[in-house]
Amino acid sequence: MANVLTSSSRPYHLVIFGASGFTGQFVVEEVARTASEGPRGNLNWAVAGRSRQKLEQVLEQAASVLGKPELRTEVDIIVADVEEPDSLAAMCKQAVIVLNCVGPYRFFGEPVVKACVENGAHHLDISGEPQFLEGMQLNYHNLAAEKGVYIIGSCGFDSIPADMGVLYTKEQFKGTLTALESFLTVDAGPDGGCIHDGTWQSAIYGFADSQNLQSLRQRFNYKPLPSVGPKLKRRGTLFYSNEIQQYTVPFMGSDPSVVKRTQRFLVEENQDTPVQYGAYAGIGGIGNIIKLMFAGMMFWFLVKFTFGRNLLVKHPEFFSFGLFTKAGPTRKQMESSSFRFAFYGVGYTEGLDPTQGKPNGKICTLVQGPECGYVATPIALVQAALTILNESKALPKSGGVYTPGAAFAKTTLIKRLDKHGIQFSVI
Ligand SMILES: NC(=O)c1ccc[n+]([C@@H]2O[C@H](COP(=O)([O-])OP(=O)(O)OC[C@H]3O[C@@H](n4cnc5c(N)ncnc54)[C@H](OP(=O)(O)O)[C@@H]3O)[C@@H](O)[C@H]2O)c1
Repeated sequence: MANVLTSSSRPYHLVIFGASGFTGQFVVEEVARTASEGPRGNLNWAVAGRSRQKLEQVLEQAASVLGKPELRTEVDIIVADVEEPDSLAAMCKQAVIVLNCVGPYRFFGEPVVKACVENGAHHLDISGEPQFLEGMQLNYHNLAAEKGVYIIGSCGFDSIPADMGVLYTKEQFKGTLTALESFLTVDAGPDGGCIHDGTWQSAIYGFADSQNLQSLRQRFNYKPLPSVGPKLKRRGTLFYSNEIQQYTVPFMGSDPSVVKRTQRFLVEENQDTPVQYGAYAGIGGIGNIIKLMFAGMMFWFLVKFTFGRNLLVKHPEFFSFGLFTKAGPTRKQMESSSFRFAFYGVGYTEGLDPTQGKPNGKICTLVQGPECGYVATPIALVQAALTILNESKALPKSGGVYTPGAAFAKTTLIKRLDKHGIQFSVI
């Protein structure tokens, strides 16, 4: 049985590790904003990272942005480095939950997961790297279960909106939902937008190593999920979507992998009917297709070689046509950006046998919210952590390595997200 300690036996409910990173700084602000939502209206938290000076600057900045001067003096700083296991152990011993913002996770993630499991701290991350996420499940699930620790990956924009969106759609459908497609559109607003270099690097090394993901998956030795309803056809690599009225490509992030793992968990745990899932992203008009093809070809070519990867890492802006930058988006750009996931599902209405005939019901739902990487991600991560602290009885009975959908299916996470601007609705 897992145990979420919210009493004084550990000094901090939350420790934000990597608080000085581009994303970490916004996680710090989100924690400071929502501290009153902690257990009994109180949240003890600290920031952690390898440079005390940078962490002081982050607290200074958060204090001035939020008009909370007390952050400068009241939030403790823990110095911890991924390269120094003792420092990680010392950090983990002090935390109920570690919010890990140190990536790329393929390079820096495992020692933090290990230290959390060994020292009894729950671990949430914002990784969108299937290889890291699935690797942690393979290597640490049993130990985490034994120790009563929850390791919950992909708690940012990758992949909470998609994973919880699938659960929400399933819940809203009156009958048995069997297949679902999501279409993501991002509105960058009048000031444009971009993604910070940290995610670019995670993508480069992830694509370069995609072969190993296949062999890792074989090691799970899974039986195929039972197939209910007609097989969901994969769309092409580029097509015009009538659903979102623009050209569309398969979504390249972790959502399909995370959703599939959640569906497997729900089948095995609750004997649920699995939902087949396809994820797509809108790219706009013809101009963007040309840019994407050109950037995609260069990326696929360069990512295979060390010299090519070095080039990509060195010049994110050039090779991504400005989508990824070393500076990241400005606060003004972030304010005017938003995302929208439209889910289109089919299934069998109540009373109809899903093993017979064609689906006769349809549903369309939306998950929409603010800028993906640095507004929605901190909201999702922090609400996931607050859910653990406030609703421990609704989590899976034992510890282990879980997806957000598996961990939070029985909690009020969707309501919490809704309250904070990540909204779920049926249309
Ligand atoms: N799920 C999502 O939608 C989403 C959204 C945003 C980001 N992310 C992911 O989050 C990760 C971070 O992205 P970012 O843009 O914030 O990157 P970043 O600005 O480069 O931040 C990386 C952080 O890791 C820290 N770090 C590096 N090596 C370390 C070590 N040896 N010990 C301790 N800390 C170390 C850095 O510390 P220093 O400050 O001392 O250098 C920094 O705080 C990436 O994997 C990215 O893909 C995911």
